[in-house]
Amino acid sequence: MHKRTLLQTAAALALLGASGLSLAQDNVFKIGLILPMTGQQATTGRQIEAAAKLWMAQNGDTVAGKKVQLIVKDDASVPANTRRLAQELVVNDKVNVLAGMGITPSALAVAPIATQSKTPLVVMAAATSSITEASPLIVRSSFTLPQAAVAMADWAPKNGIKNVVTLVSDYGPGIDAEKFFKDRFLFNGGKITESLRVPLMNPDFAPFLQKVRDLKPDALFVFTPSGAGAALMKQFGERGMDKAGIRLIGTGDITDDDQLNDMGDVALGVVTSHHYSTFHPSAANKKFVEAFEKANKGLRPNFMAVGGYDGMRIIYEALKKTGGKGGGEALVGAMKGMMFESPRGPVLIDAQTRDITQNIYLRKVEKKNGALWNVEFDVIKDVKDPGKTK
Ligand code: DHB
Repeated sequence: MHKRTLLQTAAALALLGASGLSLAQDNVFKIGLILPMTGQQATTGRQIEAAAKLWMAQNGDTVAGKKVQLIVKDDASVPANTRRLAQELVVNDKVNVLAGMGITPSALAVAPIATQSKTPLVVMAAATSSITEASPLIVRSSFTLPQAAVAMADWAPKNGIKNVVTLVSDYGPGIDAEKFFKDRFLFNGGKITESLRVPLMNPDFAPFLQKVRDLKPDALFVFTPSGAGAALMKQFGERGMDKAGIRLIGTGDITDDDQLNDMGDVALGVVTSHHYSTFHPSAANKKFVEAFEKANKGLRPNFMAVGGYDGMRIIYEALKKTGGKGGGEALVGAMKGMMFESPRGPVLIDAQTRDITQNIYLRKVEKKNGALWNVEFDVIKDVKDPGKTK
């Protein structure tokens, strides 16, 4: 008898425990943030994680009555890992939103999981144009390579650059950068002497740069992902290519603010086009940079950090708009058409494409107070992704 009572009590407690737990679960809003925290793209992970944590420290972890929980997972930029982690986060952790995606292959690997489970996927880094077309649940807070590359193809021919060799990492964003730079540059009357592609992983730039030296174009246009630019810049300098009169141009990934001060003076004067510079002179950006540096031992936020920070804002605002009651499709619906002032300037989540419309700036590397900065000198306002066909 005594035994039975105990057993009954235990069962009742278990039930209570379970319902208590599910009640707690109902009040939790989980964000599964998958990033490369190790490997070649680790700087991207470090920047985005720091930015997401800063957003939460500044805006609290209670939104529309829900406790926001951030679950960070390291995929080391291996798409098979990203896919497995996304599956576990959706099935086991029952996350409400997936986010992160350091490189394009990771975002594309997770797109079918987002679609099948109707989980919003906020892409904070990856920047191949077609990513947002891979799932109706994808919303992007970073940028696209066509957005950045077209601005450079308009600037270069007006500034004495008539023939160019392109050099890009051989995958989605590199191919986008090459195509959109080339088409626009040809349209503007320029000449492309050669188009070179280097492997994404562990690239050896030396033989490619030797080839460029021999071809002696007015400029070399480069795209490599965030974190890879310093190695290329160093070799460009070591081979004396700048002294041989070959200018280096590219999208701002090459003069990544995270690494700019390690590149040395070879970076001085390099002109790039991009959506964000740490040096962007707005009050909102100054506030962001100060807070980020304070929270991260002086680390400079780069364009990845801004993608992570704005991605968190988009998730928080969608949660607020849906009163904490919406599922994945309602959350994506609430993200469409969102407009706000980012540290990069004004942005809009295009309601049709779920991609980001934003200013693209032309910037030149300059030394100020002993440090290197991407100093903006021109702006093309409200640029929609030129890669979208519809
Ligand atoms: C991608 C990655 C980067 O680090 C970057 O700067 C641009 C694009 C990508 O894989 O999509």
